[in-house]
Amino acid sequence: AKLNTLAKAKGKLYFGTATDNSELSDAAYTAILDDNAMFGQITPANSMKWDATEPSQGQFTFSGGDQIANLAKTNGMLLRGHNCVWYNQLPSWVSNGKFTAAQLTSVIQTHCSTLLTHYKGQAYAWDVVNEPFNDDGTWRTDVFYNTLGTSYVQIALEAARTADPNAKLYINEYNIEYAGAKATSLLNLVKSLKAASVPLDGVGFQSHFIVGQVPTGLQTQLSTFAATGVEVAITELDIRMTLPSTAALLAQQKTDYTNVIKACASVEACVGVTVWDWTDKYSWVPNTFSGQGAACPWDQNLVKKPAYDGIAAAF
Ligand code: XIL
Repeated sequence: AKLNTLAKAKGKLYFGTATDNSELSDAAYTAILDDNAMFGQITPANSMKWDATEPSQGQFTFSGGDQIANLAKTNGMLLRGHNCVWYNQLPSWVSNGKFTAAQLTSVIQTHCSTLLTHYKGQAYAWDVVNEPFNDDGTWRTDVFYNTLGTSYVQIALEAARTADPNAKLYINEYNIEYAGAKATSLLNLVKSLKAASVPLDGVGFQSHFIVGQVPTGLQTQLSTFAATGVEVAITELDIRMTLPSTAALLAQQKTDYTNVIKACASVEACVGVTVWDWTDKYSWVPNTFSGQGAACPWDQNLVKKPAYDGIAAAF
């Protein structure tokens, strides 16, 4: 059986993937993508981000995002919206010193509200806040935090809830897949938001891993966050290696993928797993981590790697 079918048989909602608009003109790629037995969920890798959706203040463009949302709909796949508020891929009009606290509050409300209203009823979940913390557990001193302190998280979540009451609202983060200062800070934030009845439904574990270094505490972290009353998901899984790939690295990668899937499969509140694109042909890894790559379950030629069998075996 294919991966989404296997995930659902284990009680998960989906196995899914990120994709990007430029990839959709590759017929060999879409021939594999457009199959909801394989992928039951889609995340747009770029086209719902702030720079893509509101490049100038109040001027919204949804053409790229709509293409991905329509693909999900046509194929009968769930959609994860990504994202409302993030320090990265922000248009230059959203920057330090340009807005008072009251103005930036309104800027965030307008952005989140317009975005979620546009896709109302179409998204299973939204990454409302992406990557709020530094690795040492301190808050990222981006325009949002600098202007509004921690309150920007609540402002964004409340605007999102009002715009699409049925979407699961997430905070999405990386390097929280093991115990440490960053995971602790996020856990404390989740608890304080819950205590204050701020609308928050889920925590996304990005899970950009390195071959041979998948955190052994992943399952514990998923359970620890779930114990606060949120659902959890693996939202951006890939497992990179230093190139060139070898048979030994690919075998270790298979084991690593198996362990990640098992962690989610073992935690009831873990709703699904999303890979950050399924093929090495379109992975973000080589562009971001110099000398590294081969992070996905299918290779450059769209051929399944041992990692694919590692996923299938774990569900
Ligand atoms: C990445 C995209 O995949 C790239 O195409 C883009 O150039 C940069 O962003 N964490 C996230 C994602 O939340 O939005 C990022 O996506 C990868 C890291």
